[in-house]
Amino acid sequence: MATTNLIDKLVENSQFAYVPYSHFPVSALLVTKSGEIYTGVNIENASFGLTNCAERTAIFKAVSEGVLDFTEILIYGETEQPISPCGACRQVMAEFFNPDLKVTLVAKDKSTVETTVGELLPYSFTDLK
Ligand code: THU
Repeated sequence: MATTNLIDKLVENSQFAYVPYSHFPVSALLVTKSGEIYTGVNIENASFGLTNCAERTAIFKAVSEGVLDFTEILIYGETEQPISPCGACRQVMAEFFNPDLKVTLVAKDKSTVETTVGELLPYSFTDLK
C-alpha cells in the first residue's frame, strides 16, 4: 500500500482510541512482511498506569496472531509536531523489530518525520544471553 494510503488509514483509525481521561488519541499502523496491516490505538483505564499505548496495541495484536515479521510502523497524534513513542513502546519495538525498521511519525497536518527503531532506542537491551 502506498504511504499516503497508509497515512489515511492511520489517521482514520485514530477514531477508535479509548481516551476518556487524556482526550489524546494516538493511532499506530504496523505493516507486516506479507503486506498485512495491524492497527492499534491507545486504550486508557481509570487506573491510569494500566493504559496501553497505540504502538503496543498494534504490536501485541500482530504477535498474538503469530505474526513476527514487519517492515514498518506509522504513528499518529493530533499534534502540530509529530509525536514520538514513549520509552516503554521503544523497548517493545526493540524486542520485535530490527534496528533499521522504518518508523514514520505523523502530525495532525499529515506531515511526517522518518526515523528507525535503532535511532529511537540505541544500544538497547534485547535479550538475556
Ligand atoms: N500514548 C500513546 O498511545 N503512544 C505514545 O507513544 C505516547 C503516549 C498515549 C498514552 C495515553 O493514553 C495518552 O497517549 C497520553 O499520554
